[in-house]
Formats: sequence, structure tokens, C-alpha cells
Amino acid sequence: MSASKLVRPSVDFKDSFLAALEEHHKENRYLYCDIGKLSRDFDTFVKELRSARGYQHQPYQEWVEPVPETVTWLVKDTEYIGTVDIRHRLNWHLEKWGGHIHICIRPSMRSKGFGRKMLLKALPIANYLGIDKALLTINPRNKAAIRIVEASGAEFEDELPETGQFPAQRRYWIDCT
Ligand SMILES: CC(C)(COP(=O)(O)OP(=O)(O)OC[C@H]1O[C@@H](n2cnc3c(N)ncnc32)[C@H](O)[C@@H]1OP(=O)(O)O)[C@@H](O)C(=O)NCCC(=O)NCCS
Repeated sequence: MSASKLVRPSVDFKDSFLAALEEHHKENRYLYCDIGKLSRDFDTFVKELRSARGYQHQPYQEWVEPVPETVTWLVKDTEYIGTVDIRHRLNWHLEKWGGHIHICIRPSMRSKGFGRKMLLKALPIANYLGIDKALLTINPRNKAAIRIVEASGAEFEDELPETGQFPAQRRYWIDCT
């Protein structure tokens, strides 16, 4: 059995990635990823995620400028465990909601220490992409994420209030050097 590691998305993890996606859908996450479509053509999905110029992070297509994003997966042996998205730069939306680094562990693998490990493993990659200090934004109700980020030595900047459309966010800066 090997240690967990961050890798570029790969078709080798298709089965466990799709099983994880089913878990995510049950918590209303990643609903824009169609499981049927992905299972029919996983190769194209992986190719897009591995784009040499970065995957286009564009969650609010009409009114937010897209930014390039490097996507990596935390895996152990043949199993997909979680995803780290690293945005190469911020736009006005990511400055408030999203930040440079977003981590997500599949629900069945949570509370086993993977979230904490995954964030630490992502920092040299962020630095390689030219980010010295990365912004992390967290919903104040997300106790697990707050514990991970505060234990990583990240510096608290402020807490933005809820708006009509978006939840409150605690903002932290983490040193990637
Ligand atoms: C946030 C998230 C990444 C945490 O991943 P995880 O693998 O469950 O976290 P870990 O097992 O590394 O636990 C980290 C810490 O949080 C604590 N924790 C875990 N679940 C918790 C919960 N529900 N409530 C309070 N604390 C919790 C753990 O005890 C641990 O603290 P400790 O090391 O001091 O004991 C995961 O819940 C997730 O993917 N959530 C959905 C996406 C998300 O919210 N991402 C964060 C935005 S950046």
C-alpha cells in the first residue's frame, strides 16, 4: 500500500472518481458534472482538466472573467480521494468567494486527515505556478476547513458578510514559499 499523493487527473482513477461524484451529488456538489456523460467519455474530461494552459475556472460564466486553474487529484493506490483546484490568479469574484486554492475530499473519505494533508501538498504546486501567498476563503460554518487552514499557519485577514447571493466568507492568506 502506498502513501497518498497529488497527481494530474488521469483515466486510471475513472471508477473511483465517478463513485465519488455520486457521493458529491448527494450533498448537492458538482451537480454540473453529468455522471452518465462522464462515464461515456472520461478521456475528454481528463484531457480538459489537464490542459497545458490550465483548465478554465468559470463558475459564473456570464459575469465573471475566467481564470486558468490547475487541477490535481489526491489518490492512494488506485483510489481517488479528493481534488485541489489552484487558480493561477484571482478575479474580483475569487477575491471574495473562492480564493486561489479550493480543496474537496470525497464524503466517504472525510475525517481521516486527508484534507489537512492535501492542502499542505498543494502549496509547492501553487508556488511553482507563481503564487507566493495564496488566498483561501471559507464559510464560517465550515468547521473542518477552518481547523485545517488555521492549523496550517495561514493568516486570518477578515470575515466578509453574507450578501443576497453569496454566503459569508472568512479569508486567510497562506504562505506557499
Ligand atoms: C473541508 C474538508 C476538505 C475537510 O477534509 P477532511 O479530510 O474531512 O479533514 P481532516 O480529516 O483533515 O480534518 C481536519 C480537521 O477538521 C476536524 N474536523 C473534521 N470534520 C469536522 C467537522 N465536521 N466539524 C468540526 N471539525 C471537523 C478534524 O478533527 C481535524 O482537526 P484535528 O486535526 O485538529 O483533529 C472536507 O470536509 C470537504 O471536502 N468539504 C467539502 C468542500 C469544502 O468545504 N472545502 C473547503 C473549502 S476550501
